[in-house]
Amino acid sequence: MADHAILAGKRVLLVIAGGIAAYKSLELIRRLRERGVTVRAVLTEAGARFVTPLSVQALTEDTVYRDLWSLTDESEMGHIRLSREADLLVVAPATANLLARMAAGMADDLAATVLLATDKPVMVAPAMNVRMWQHAATQANMALLESRGVLRVGPNDGVMACNEYGPGRMAEPMEIVDAIAGFFAAEANRLQGPLAGRRAIVTSGPTHEPIDPVRYIANRSSGKQGHAIAAALAALGAEVTLVSGPTRLPDPAGCRVTHIETAREMLAACEAALPADIAVCAAAVADWRVDGASDRKLKKDGGGPPALALTENPDILATLSQPGERRPALVVGFAAETGDVLAYATAKRARKGCDWIVANDVSPGTGTFGGSDNTVHLIRADGVESWPTMPKDAVATRLAEAVAAFFAGK
Ligand code: PMT
Repeated sequence: MADHAILAGKRVLLVIAGGIAAYKSLELIRRLRERGVTVRAVLTEAGARFVTPLSVQALTEDTVYRDLWSLTDESEMGHIRLSREADLLVVAPATANLLARMAAGMADDLAATVLLATDKPVMVAPAMNVRMWQHAATQANMALLESRGVLRVGPNDGVMACNEYGPGRMAEPMEIVDAIAGFFAAEANRLQGPLAGRRAIVTSGPTHEPIDPVRYIANRSSGKQGHAIAAALAALGAEVTLVSGPTRLPDPAGCRVTHIETAREMLAACEAALPADIAVCAAAVADWRVDGASDRKLKKDGGGPPALALTENPDILATLSQPGERRPALVVGFAAETGDVLAYATAKRARKGCDWIVANDVSPGTGTFGGSDNTVHLIRADGVESWPTMPKDAVATRLAEAVAAFFAGK
């Protein structure tokens, strides 16, 4: 859990949109105010159907801003000032509708206008029916917003108000408080930590390579190691872009996260995040994808199993390691080996052209893939350090400290 002391004195503009989860936003206001946060609220017209302006006003002890056309509101606090006089804008619940309007840059009510006019960071807590969340339109809107730097907390898996099950439940108020505290802590570190001013790209999780619209090739990576590294670098002040394949993990606080599915999307997202000082490739990228994946579900038509022709995926680590102006000063790869770990990993470091490689044994029984611990060897040009078995968080912290020491010595 993030340290909440950092929240005292911060100003949050909370946008409450129209979803059943709006009742949790009342609790969120209370939890933030208990921690010394000034909360000002914008309530959409639909939001006011779920929670009353009076409740929001009583809890924030402030005017509730609702109407773009209100002469009183505009004269007391114009929508431009409203959007700027906050340290962070939090949209909770962020409905499919509001996400779509944000992505399209619309300004058709006070909430959307404030979100368009702001020059402050924005965090969204999506909440909607599982199918609405999974719809390609919502996913594309969310991806676009995240690529513009919008932070996201949740949604969580669970039973919905509509009795369906899946991702779409708004994060719990205390998870949102944690994410907000994590954001402010990372921001403070960005100014003070040993990696302040450094930009980092971290890849994490598996990639999914489609066979047809419902089947894919994947692997057992959980993303725990890569996500922990992203969080550890951010905790030392780096500005981190985490490029993550599909995982069940929440986004680490204080990182910009780009969600991708395939190796080619991962490469494009990494290239879009350049220039960077540091790249850490902890993702388990599929080496091959299906050549000419079908856009229709493959049928059992009695002709036996389909022949799947595979073609090689781009190598993200090798691409980022290529010499040139845009090459990060420090490129770190991982090597997942099932035998002769040091020999294979050393050869991999040379082949891919990265500076360091973190070798881990992923043989069955080690539990490295998906488990919480890892046993690694850090291989650099000047030798090998073998670290004891430790939780992946501790591996991440130690690796981030080694990265900071590298830059301190430059
Ligand atoms: O996600 P977890 O469950 O926490 O598990 C962590 C982990 C075992 C996945 C992680 O510690 C790890 O070892 N990641 C690298 C896995 C892997 O794909 O290793 P590899 O030896 O096949 O690849 C070597 C390096 O090249 C890796 O840095 C990999 O990210 C990179 N690579 C590989 C193929 C490819 N097409 N592009 C790449 O960038």
